[in-house]
Amino acid sequence: MAFLWELHVATMRGYVERTWGWDETFQRDHFHKTFSPEHLRILTCGGRDIGVLETHLHPDHLFLARISILPSRQNRGIGTRIIRPILQDAGERNLPVRLQVLKVNPARFLYERMGFTTCSETTTHFMMTRPPSSVKIG
Ligand SMILES: CC(C)(COP(=O)(O)OP(=O)(O)OC[C@H]1O[C@@H](n2cnc3c(N)ncnc32)[C@H](O)[C@@H]1OP(=O)(O)O)[C@@H](O)C(=O)NCCC(=O)NCCS
Repeated sequence: MAFLWELHVATMRGYVERTWGWDETFQRDHFHKTFSPEHLRILTCGGRDIGVLETHLHPDHLFLARISILPSRQNRGIGTRIIRPILQDAGERNLPVRLQVLKVNPARFLYERMGFTTCSETTTHFMMTRPPSSVKIG
């Protein structure tokens, strides 16, 4: 739990700040309320915890709820390597993959490269989807 909170602050604080401002009490509370261990996988490399992945399997889609990698390990292709088998798994189930990303977050460009397109938006987020038939896997 301590690792996940530190990871959340290290990876998301800047984007949250630019979107709503960072309220530490609200963020801690929200983090604990939405903690869903049965859907989480801790990503490790060389025996060290380096990130987290959260997916939810629904009858009509697979939801990529969270992917975060420690800043010191970002931009080395790890995110791509983690997402690719999720897309393959969804493809084998003939399900689209959906996610939402803050508008200020450059992760959107990675998702676009992997075949996701924006299907709708709110004031703060883009909702993205990738159909199971997409050939492009990134
Ligand atoms: C999104 C994330 C999981 C991608 O993992 P990664 O291992 O860095 O990804 P890769 O090395 O495979 O791909 C890098 C791409 O991610 C995108 N990207 C995401 N966040 C980025 C950042 N902070 N800075 C630069 N590029 C970023 C870029 O498109 C980049 O491609 P580029 O090098 O051609 O510009 C990782 O950057 C991360 O943990 N970010 C913070 C948490 C987050 O935003 N999670 C997604 C919430 S929807």
